[in-house]
Amino acid sequence: MKKILKMALFLGVTSLYAQQGGMWIPSLLEGMNAKEMKTLGMKMSVADIYNVNKSSLKDAAPHFNGGCSSEIISDKGLLLTNHHCGYGQIQAHSSLQNDYLTHGFWAKNLSEELPNKNLKVTFIVRIDDVTKQVLAGTQQITDETQKAKLIEQNIAQAIKTAPKEAWQENSVKAFYDGNQYILFVTETFKDVRLVGAPPSSIGKFGSDTDNWVWPRHTGDFSLFRVYADKNNRPAEYSKDNVPYKPKHFFPISIKGVKEGDFVMVFGYPGTTQEYLPSVAVEQIVNTINPARIGIRDVALKVQDGFMRKDNSIKIKYASKYARTANYWKKWIGETKGLKKSDAVSLKKQQEIKFQQNIEKANKQAEYGNLLPEFNQLYKEFEPYNLAYNLYSELMYRTVDFLSNGVRILQMQQVLDKKGEQAFADRKKNMLSVFESVFKDNVKQVDKEVFEKIIVFYAEQMPKNLLVASLQNFDAKQLADKLYANSFLTSYEGIEKVLALSPAEFKEQLKNDIGVQFAAQLMDMNDTKVYPNYTRISTQIHALQRTYMKAILEFSKPSDRIFPDANSTLRVTYGKVAGFSPADGVDYAATTTLDGVMEKYVPGDYEFDVPQKLRELYAKKDYGRYGQNGKMPLCFISTCHTTGGNSGSPAIDANGNLIGINFDRVWEGTMSDIHYDPKLCRNIMMDMRYFLFIVDKYAGAGYLLNEMKIVK
Ligand code: ARG
Ligand code: GLU
Repeated sequence: MKKILKMALFLGVTSLYAQQGGMWIPSLLEGMNAKEMKTLGMKMSVADIYNVNKSSLKDAAPHFNGGCSSEIISDKGLLLTNHHCGYGQIQAHSSLQNDYLTHGFWAKNLSEELPNKNLKVTFIVRIDDVTKQVLAGTQQITDETQKAKLIEQNIAQAIKTAPKEAWQENSVKAFYDGNQYILFVTETFKDVRLVGAPPSSIGKFGSDTDNWVWPRHTGDFSLFRVYADKNNRPAEYSKDNVPYKPKHFFPISIKGVKEGDFVMVFGYPGTTQEYLPSVAVEQIVNTINPARIGIRDVALKVQDGFMRKDNSIKIKYASKYARTANYWKKWIGETKGLKKSDAVSLKKQQEIKFQQNIEKANKQAEYGNLLPEFNQLYKEFEPYNLAYNLYSELMYRTVDFLSNGVRILQMQQVLDKKGEQAFADRKKNMLSVFESVFKDNVKQVDKEVFEKIIVFYAEQMPKNLLVASLQNFDAKQLADKLYANSFLTSYEGIEKVLALSPAEFKEQLKNDIGVQFAAQLMDMNDTKVYPNYTRISTQIHALQRTYMKAILEFSKPSDRIFPDANSTLRVTYGKVAGFSPADGVDYAATTTLDGVMEKYVPGDYEFDVPQKLRELYAKKDYGRYGQNGKMPLCFISTCHTTGGNSGSPAIDANGNLIGINFDRVWEGTMSDIHYDPKLCRNIMMDMRYFLFIVDKYAGAGYLLNEMKIVK
């Protein structure tokens, strides 16, 4: 009896974590995935998720502006995504008088909805495997460049010949590092209007402090509407356009979620690297992540110091700080998680097994050298990889002075390579870039960031790839000299130089100490670093493709080899589940509005709570959205997500919308490289909180009339 119990317990524990992780192609779920999803509790069939002959869930899950995910929630094209995905649009419509970021925005009818320039939403019409066609004739070619050329031609041919309607687009993407190619037929809508957004104190509650953090209390959503022409087809903005009638939209469930429930997330994950050899993961853990964390650390500390002392600096630097902090924090979590889950040793064990498989299959000639070659190449790659990462952080990310230098040098290249007309054409665009740079720039802050960061940079760079002027220098003197004498520190200075005649422009650049400093760094990168970086990367990619081919060859479906994320539509499924990130710490799977009040700091820029929300909380006025006297807010699950999955629908066993994905837990951010079901969780906002905010908080209950709410 005891034995059976133990056995059952063992099976129970493993099955909680088995069958999870992975981002799967929606058109290929039949078989292993379908079985797993059923075991996990799904009541739909996989044909309900993806179907070309009748409407299916995929018709309600468009790509939002190429970077985020979203879902359609009414038959009038109402679209839901994250607040942080619609942030740019909300900001663009905001002014001092109408500050929608601070106070929120709610269109009371169609005529109040706000059109957006350069916003598009893309639906998947069809997904076809075109591997045979794309790889035709490439097997005989050994030269990588020639091979790539033929693949490119074959892809162009596939795009040209695949049947589609006039208003649709074809595109082809590589999967499994180029072992599979898939064609997508899509429809892209360009008239997408802003319908609603909560105030940032709800949509961004917790801001950077809570970013990547569980337990979480952010109402991270915004509402848009997709418009079409009279034939329900994509069209540029026109006041004559009408709300898009989707083939499918998600009913919203208010039944509630609990530990153990099936959940599926359907969206557009950007990039993962799940099949790296151990040597590559070691390099990330020991060299690359510490360098990029370290360099951002310096910038963030300086900026934070100023932001705390000066409110106007805080406003100017808030968005820049958040951008830098987002991945800085992610990489710290990722490094910790890779160590905690022993990713490198696990990979090493897999590699021993891999080597054995090669011998068993008698494939030494084809695959026997892969791992030694990886070791060799990554070793050669390391200094260039480090140098290129440091250079990118320094020149493009953290110091405006240097990014400005890069931009000015690019203008010179335009002049030299494309001529005066191209130079003149580019100028206007460039000036508007500089305008937005200086809108959020404080010279003193930028200078101090430079002074600190350049020391870190010089220390970390491989000595043979470091410019001569930084081999031995005084950072304070250098900063003083550059910031006092270069035109790169002000908009007016740059504007004046760009207004010069081409000859004077070039002369001015030659004489400017700042431009010349940036030019030195750029030159070192362009001659010594980048060419080697790309040369070895190309070799590594070719090797990775063969490695992936071998992994696929030696695997069974039960090994669950899914293709790395590549910004295409994927399905990930799992269970609502809490987790234990550290000894003595147990996290529940759900949060409620109580947590907002626990975190509330009056007047704080991250943790303030709007008065109306405090009143609703005090009265426990949750309507039909509350549960046992509490207002549910967020929940986590074992779904395997990454950047790009923001805004993805979280769907229950029957295909109803229960949440909207917006983040991952910090302890599990290594899932981009190694998914560990014990530690990796995605964070979603409960749809009941969405309805509560729209209905009770914003008084925009009229929007609910077009939604389908199910219990
Ligand atoms: N960590 C989430 C995602 O990558 C949310 C980012 C936006 N929020 C923020 N506080 N920066 O990318
Ligand atoms: N916030 C991320 C995004 O913008 C999603 C979080 C993640 O990386 O999983 O896509």
